[in-house]
Amino acid sequence: MGALVTAIGRPSWHASLLEWLGRQGRASVAAGSLALVTAIGAVDYGTGSEVSVTLLYLMPVALGAWAGGRGVGVGMAGASALTWLGAGLLEPGAGGDPLVLAWNASTLAGMFALVALALAALRQSKANLEAAVAQRTATLQEEVLQRRRAEVRLQQVNADLHSTQLQLIEAAKMEAVGRMAAGVAHEVKNPLMTLGMGAGYFLQRRPAHADEAALLQDMKQAVGRASHIINGLLDFARPRPRQLAPADLNEVVDDALKLVRHQLATQKVTVQRQLQPGLPPLPLDRVRMEHVIVNLLTNAAQAMPGGGTVTVRTSMHAGGDRPPDQAPQIRLDIEDTGEGIPPEHLGRVFDPFFTTKPLGEGTGLGLSIVHRIVQIHGGGVVLANLSSGGACATVTFRSS
Ligand SMILES: Nc1ncnc2c1ncn2[C@@H]1O[C@H](COP(=O)(O)OP(=O)(O)O)[C@@H](O)[C@H]1O
Ligand SMILES: [Mg+2]
Repeated sequence: MGALVTAIGRPSWHASLLEWLGRQGRASVAAGSLALVTAIGAVDYGTGSEVSVTLLYLMPVALGAWAGGRGVGVGMAGASALTWLGAGLLEPGAGGDPLVLAWNASTLAGMFALVALALAALRQSKANLEAAVAQRTATLQEEVLQRRRAEVRLQQVNADLHSTQLQLIEAAKMEAVGRMAAGVAHEVKNPLMTLGMGAGYFLQRRPAHADEAALLQDMKQAVGRASHIINGLLDFARPRPRQLAPADLNEVVDDALKLVRHQLATQKVTVQRQLQPGLPPLPLDRVRMEHVIVNLLTNAAQAMPGGGTVTVRTSMHAGGDRPPDQAPQIRLDIEDTGEGIPPEHLGRVFDPFFTTKPLGEGTGLGLSIVHRIVQIHGGGVVLANLSSGGACATVTFRSS
């Protein structure tokens, strides 16, 4: 079977010869065929009237028609009939009636011309067929290419859809977690308060043993820590209306600094204030924005356990990423000289409950609350590593 396929696939020698002939020019085909007619005429003359070579003339006629087309074929038919007539009249031993010979020559010319016309038509239809096949092949190739491109596009769209679906599922999950957490927090808040008050009450009654006092103190602290976490959760989930009023960002920064000044000092953290004077007032929810700044300052201090410097900077930039005639962008940068953020954590720091701090020290809610608050102000917040080491939290607002 394989051999058969190979044999069919390989062009035969006569097909190759016909191909080669087809590629020759009309003039050289005509000249070659004429030379063949002359040679056959010479044989015709030389062999005398006994031996018939008439059918040999079909060779140049067929050759001319196939390779040179209709004109050359018909020309060769005429030339062959004339040569045949000449040889018949001149060859040794000729003695027939010249009129009969002329009649025979003309019927021969007619037959030869018919063969030439049929062959030329066959050749023409073969060429037409080849051209049609080539054209169809090109169209098909183009179609296949377009289909492949469409397939790639479809795969891309599919992948986008898949990732959007995942994001939607994540968002829905986060919302459910948030709601659940708020519910749990509500439930736990009151029992915790009771426990805290109970511990406080027994502490006030001055227990007889120092051990008992220490235990009650520990209990009170533990309840305090738990309340802190619960309040954070409630803060995160509570749908409080925005209370926006025009405020000077620098004043809000100073108020927040006052809240944490003592804590920063005990952690050996120096604060550098670089506040740009004359910032336009921004529509701010002051309490929430203080919360944002306190959270960012706390994170900065916690990133420098051995102490360091926090730089708090406000600045104004014309247009930000908008065209220059647009409202200016106001920026708040809080830089620290801590260890920075490992690259694998950079994409997760704003996720609720993501924390790298030991149990009891971090809830992982700080930055997600910051993000939520900045969002309701129509601003943006990013956390990035500084090339000099340390990290920088940047909050941006648009002044309207
Ligand atoms: N200034 C900072 N430098 C280094 N890492 C930081 C900084 N701020 C935040 N992070 C990282 O982001 C995490 C999440 O912060 P946050 O949401 O405030 O939660 P928490 O402070 O309770 O851990 C932190 O645990 C810490 O790994
Ligand atoms: Mg924090």
